[in-house]
Amino acid sequence: MFQNLRQDIRRNLRDYNPGSALRAAALCATLNSIHAVILIRFQFWCARNRLPTLFAAKLLFWGFGIEISKQARIGPGLRLPHPMGLIIAPGTVVGDNCDLYADVRLVLAHGSRQGPILGDHVFLGDGAKVVGAVRVGDHAVVGVSSVVTRDIPAHATAVGIPAKVINTDNQRAQEPA
Ligand SMILES: CC(C)(COP(=O)(O)OP(=O)(O)OC[C@H]1O[C@@H](n2cnc3c(N)ncnc32)[C@H](O)[C@@H]1OP(=O)(O)O)[C@@H](O)C(=O)NCCC(=O)NCCS
Repeated sequence: MFQNLRQDIRRNLRDYNPGSALRAAALCATLNSIHAVILIRFQFWCARNRLPTLFAAKLLFWGFGIEISKQARIGPGLRLPHPMGLIIAPGTVVGDNCDLYADVRLVLAHGSRQGPILGDHVFLGDGAKVVGAVRVGDHAVVGVSSVVTRDIPAHATAVGIPAKVINTDNQRAQEPA
C-alpha cells in the first residue's frame, strides 16, 4: 500500500511544486486528489488483508462519488486531478502513472467479466469512458467525453464517440512521470 501511495502522492503533488516538506505536508492535508488516493489505496489494502472494505468504499462514494471495484488493479502513480465521478469495474487494469480526470468510467461490456486494460502513462480526459475488454496502450491519450470501444495503440490520441485515433505519435513519453 505505502509504496504505491508514495508514488501516487508524488504525482498528485507534481503540479504544485511543493519545494519544502512543510508545503508538501500542507498540500497533503488540503488536496482532494491526495485524500482520494489515500482512500483508494486503503480500500485495496483492506481487501488484500481480508478486512472489510465498506468503510473506505463508503467514504470514497460519499466524499467523491467514486466507486472502484476491489477486483480492479491499479498501478502506482495514480493521478486524479479532479477526483469525482470515477467508476472502475471489476477486472479492470490501470497501469502505472495513469492520469484519470473527473467522471472517467472504466466499465464492463454486457456479459463480460474483463474490464478495460490501460497501459502505463495513459491520460483519460474529463468524462472519458472505456467500455469492455479493450486495451489502451502506453502513453495513449483519450479526449474529453470520448468513448473508447476498440483498442487504442500506444502513443495514440483518440477522440469522439466512438473514439477514433487522430494522432499516432503523441509526445506524452517526454512528459515527466
Ligand atoms: C484529446 C486532446 C488532447 C486533443 O488535443 P490536440 O491533439 O491538441 O487536438 P486538437 O485540439 O488539435 O483537435 C484535433 C481534432 O480533434 C477534435 N477533438 C479534440 N478533442 C476532441 C474531443 N474530446 N471530442 C471530439 N473531438 C475532439 C478537434 O475538434 C479537432 O477536429 P478537426 O481536426 O476536425 O478540427 C484534447 O482535445 C483533450 O481532450 N484534452 C484533455 C483535456 C482535459 O481532459 N483536461 C482536463 C480538465 S482540466
